[in-house]
Amino acid sequence: MSSRTLLLNCRFAENQGNIIIKDDKIIEVCLKENKTRNVIDFDQIIDIENKLVIPGMIDAHVHVRDMLQSNKESWETASSAAIAGGVTTIIDMPNTIPPTTNIKGLNAKREAAKKAIVNYKFHLGATENNLHELESILVSKPSDIAGRKVFMAGSSSNEVVADESKLREIFKLAKKYNKVVLVHTEMQNCLDKWQKIIKDKTIQNHDIIRNRECSINGTKLVLNLTNEIGNKLYICHISTKEEIELIKKCKNKNIFCEVTPHHLTLDKSILNLVGNFGKVNPPLRTKEDNQVLWEAVIDGTIDCIGSDHAPHTIDEKIEDYSNAPSGFPGLETTLSILIKEFNERKISIKRLVELTSEKPAEIFDIENRGKIEERYFADLAVIDTEKGSLIVPALFQSKAKYSPFDRMEVTGKVIMTFVYGKMYDATCPK
Ligand code: DOR
Ligand code: ZN
Repeated sequence: MSSRTLLLNCRFAENQGNIIIKDDKIIEVCLKENKTRNVIDFDQIIDIENKLVIPGMIDAHVHVRDMLQSNKESWETASSAAIAGGVTTIIDMPNTIPPTTNIKGLNAKREAAKKAIVNYKFHLGATENNLHELESILVSKPSDIAGRKVFMAGSSSNEVVADESKLREIFKLAKKYNKVVLVHTEMQNCLDKWQKIIKDKTIQNHDIIRNRECSINGTKLVLNLTNEIGNKLYICHISTKEEIELIKKCKNKNIFCEVTPHHLTLDKSILNLVGNFGKVNPPLRTKEDNQVLWEAVIDGTIDCIGSDHAPHTIDEKIEDYSNAPSGFPGLETTLSILIKEFNERKISIKRLVELTSEKPAEIFDIENRGKIEERYFADLAVIDTEKGSLIVPALFQSKAKYSPFDRMEVTGKVIMTFVYGKMYDATCPK
């Protein structure tokens, strides 16, 4: 039996109106000036009361973990965190245990992900010696694979691709299958050099130990390779102004780049307050970098915003600096932080939607998602942009109940999330 839902009084990025949902899809968007056609029996009418309605976020950078790291996060808890944060599609990273670097690892992940209640896809992990295995997966054109991820440096349970000739082969394979290669561009040999130079191993020195030079050099290298090979490149979590300058010089239709909410809004001075809870790779940098990243968001250099949701247990995070893993949860905080920042900086919500939904859908071939239009899936986030609230990590759905944004005030609370037309109370997702 099919079911019809009417969402009344929605405020969109640029206008207002109603949405009619039939089962899992939007069948009509009626702008205020036009009357709703086909007024028929609805199974459900929800008054959105002029709250902001945007396409659910498509987060192309999520570390769900699960399997042998289900103590850090599982597909159930990551899904609940996604719903609480208005994220309706997760693209999961391959540095899991087991890793998503061969068919066995992929099938283990497929099994674990059956517990998800949001839409999802996977990035495969490219290593220095798994190209044949990747190719044997790609020939069948599986619909659940988004891109291929390369880590040029060690970060968290990941294999490193340090050899330039291997990178070249990976890029060529990406070109052959017209798939995007995502790269974490910090370079391992550069990190090793700085690890030796900086004797004082403290969280305050994280950004000189994992020195900006290492991100800049890696970004330069992958841009050069991409210009030579012509593959599609997605540079993850850009953190420095120099990388933005490099990208601006050679950006073309094959080059995409991502920034995270933390690299946009936090700088290393917060580490005095939050310690290892702000330890992340690449590290938090300077206020000047924040400023240049914002300019790149505004001028279109940046294509996507990804959360880099990277949960670890609190016990691991409170170890001493050198032993504490890098990363923190982001699914529940990203949209709220962005809404607040975009409003304060007078950047349009239309631009926000491009960065969090439209572009990721386009880059990773996610069909019929990322827009509020007829025939698109009814994946939506309803946001109260008036009411202020505090970020309270103890209340996170994620298993990782800490954040460098702890107690920050945001105006942009996600109150409802729709996935495949099903409504969830985002303030209480279970
Ligand atoms: O801080 C990070 N954490 N950076 C990464 O590249 C990996 C991630 C993780 O998986 O924990
Ligand atoms: Zn990541």
